[in-house]
Amino acid sequence: MVTNDSERPVEPLVGQSAEGALGTASQDVVWNHDHVLDLDDFLYEEIESVISLAGKMREVLDRRIARAPILRGFTVINLFFEPSTRTRASFELAGKVLGADVISVSANTSSVVKGESLIDTVKTLSAMTADVIVMRHEMSGAPYLASRHTRASVINAGDGSHAHPTQALLDIYTLKQRLGDLKDKKIVMVGDISHSRVARSGMWGFSAMGANVVLCGPPTLLPSGFAVSDRPEHARTALPDVDIETDIDVAIKDADVVMALRLQKERQQGGLLPSLHEYSRLYQVTAERLSKAKNNHILMHPGPKNEGIEIGGDVASGSNSTIEEQVTNGVAVRMALLYLIAQRNQRGN
Ligand code: NCD
Repeated sequence: MVTNDSERPVEPLVGQSAEGALGTASQDVVWNHDHVLDLDDFLYEEIESVISLAGKMREVLDRRIARAPILRGFTVINLFFEPSTRTRASFELAGKVLGADVISVSANTSSVVKGESLIDTVKTLSAMTADVIVMRHEMSGAPYLASRHTRASVINAGDGSHAHPTQALLDIYTLKQRLGDLKDKKIVMVGDISHSRVARSGMWGFSAMGANVVLCGPPTLLPSGFAVSDRPEHARTALPDVDIETDIDVAIKDADVVMALRLQKERQQGGLLPSLHEYSRLYQVTAERLSKAKNNHILMHPGPKNEGIEIGGDVASGSNSTIEEQVTNGVAVRMALLYLIAQRNQRGN
């Protein structure tokens, strides 16, 4: 339930019991964001702060009764204009574990179907004293527009083919749990890079952590401008340095991490692939291909996965796969982000 101002606690509990609830002090935290729109403007220290706090949140999740109600009086509204299972449930759970009020609004049952604009919808929700609006939208840039029309903090839960910063953060957290450090690690993302917001935010985040990122896919599904040699002079510093490789066997060789990505058919124009069969023959992440990666490589997938197309079913559930860990860690990372935003709002920044 959303509470109106008179029902809200005068002094939200944010921060008060956090040290007790999380067993942590937050004095070393570096965090300068009102909104989480993408990772392109995140400092290394900010990513580290999210990851270290996510570790504390993960301890809360692993308790028998996973509750640390440090965000009582805080309202989170999930506003999803595109289908979602894990991201939406993950934000709901993250808010609830921390004691926030969480509401989910689906575009197909909201006034959007009556023609209300995105800006009006966002203004209406922020008039209900929403502290955070978590937004997924099929248009790239929609959360940026929303953030200019609300007092609430906006968290981008995926905008078109553009960005998915919370997915990149949970992937970084999962990798740091396994590898300790991402510096100089070879991370290969395979699949529909052009239409993947996961790839785009991932390349910012992984690069910021010092990893070497390789993007691999058929030429029709690789964005132009990412290879340093393709870039116009003015873009040299505006994009992270990544390598581009169309041959999956070359890309995967000696990889520390391989991330398979779904074909984003809902965003493709058509005519990009001869056939699904051809795609999976040439680009499916299989056991045979993974044998060229490092022995203790990590296999990731953001989900939802199409086994037999971009990833083999055997490797998806094999011992190198972190697919389920990514889902659990997603809740911890989103808890950390809600907490960081709540603390900043309370300090009145
Ligand atoms: C991704 C997304 O929505 O961008 N899913 C997710 O959030 N875990 C990836 C995808 O849809 O393929």
